[in-house]
Amino acid sequence: MLLPRLAVGVDGAILDTPGEPPESTLKNRLCHGAYPVREHQGLVFAYMGPPDRMPEFPIYDTSNLPGYDRYHVTKHHWPCNWLQVKDNCMDPSHTAFLHAIEMGHGFSEAHKELGTLDWVETPVGMIYIHCRRVGDNVFVRMTDYISPTLHQIATNAEEGNREHGFYRATNTFWLVPIDDTNCVTIVLRRQREGASPPGPSFGQDGDRPYEERQRSPGDWDAQVTQRPIAVHAMERLGTTDRGVIMLRGLVRDGIRAVQEGRDPKGVVRTPGEIITTYANNSVWRVPPAPTLEEDRALLLESGRRAFEQYMASPSLETAP
Ligand SMILES: [Fe+2]
Repeated sequence: MLLPRLAVGVDGAILDTPGEPPESTLKNRLCHGAYPVREHQGLVFAYMGPPDRMPEFPIYDTSNLPGYDRYHVTKHHWPCNWLQVKDNCMDPSHTAFLHAIEMGHGFSEAHKELGTLDWVETPVGMIYIHCRRVGDNVFVRMTDYISPTLHQIATNAEEGNREHGFYRATNTFWLVPIDDTNCVTIVLRRQREGASPPGPSFGQDGDRPYEERQRSPGDWDAQVTQRPIAVHAMERLGTTDRGVIMLRGLVRDGIRAVQEGRDPKGVVRTPGEIITTYANNSVWRVPPAPTLEEDRALLLESGRRAFEQYMASPSLETAP
């Protein structure tokens, strides 16, 4: 093992091999692997693709939210394949069943409502559009999946009882595959100055006793217990899994693009380009339709209308 006895430059050049005799030419014949890195908002990103295909560093429009200059980063290890962790982000019904209905976990009352679900592709990935009835209002929540490994959400505390425009995502989740059966999520939460730091995330690791995790499961328990690599052939997908199917299609399209030498979705080649993203919460006054069935149609239509409005004029508004 030569590594502890090397002095290596930032580009991987071997500068010195102090354990070798002075006349050794070993250092001239070897090169250590190295990847370009970039520090951004307290995180270090590495580019590990072919050097001649290196894109611009992706800067998202959520990077600098006006007034949100406090950053909190958390990191969680998941002993399973990365895809079963990520495809959960396009399954909004799990939020009600796994988080909001029984335990809250920082989700407002409005999240207990199942509402209507819709999914739409965006230039960088896709979003879900989740609409819930809150009295005379419709709470429209859009969440980004940015292929292949990123998602963004606006605040979970939205109550939906006050009309307002598009409040941008404040939380960005990166997922880093380590190998086929291990991955790490890195969560960046942006906050206003003076806000108290976010509490610990519930259910994002396996540190709780087994019985407690069985009685009050979190995301970690739901995803890791699918086995180290979930077997898609054994799944029985329902209508609420439409987003999961779309997400997997986007991953597949991206893999094929790379195999054919093309850029997958979301790769930036223009220096200085800021990537538009789509996650937000908005609340609209739309009094209920006379019947439940008609109201569901109205919720779906309100969600589509909100999405079209957002696409025509993306907002940079943030929650007060
Ligand atoms: Fe979750």
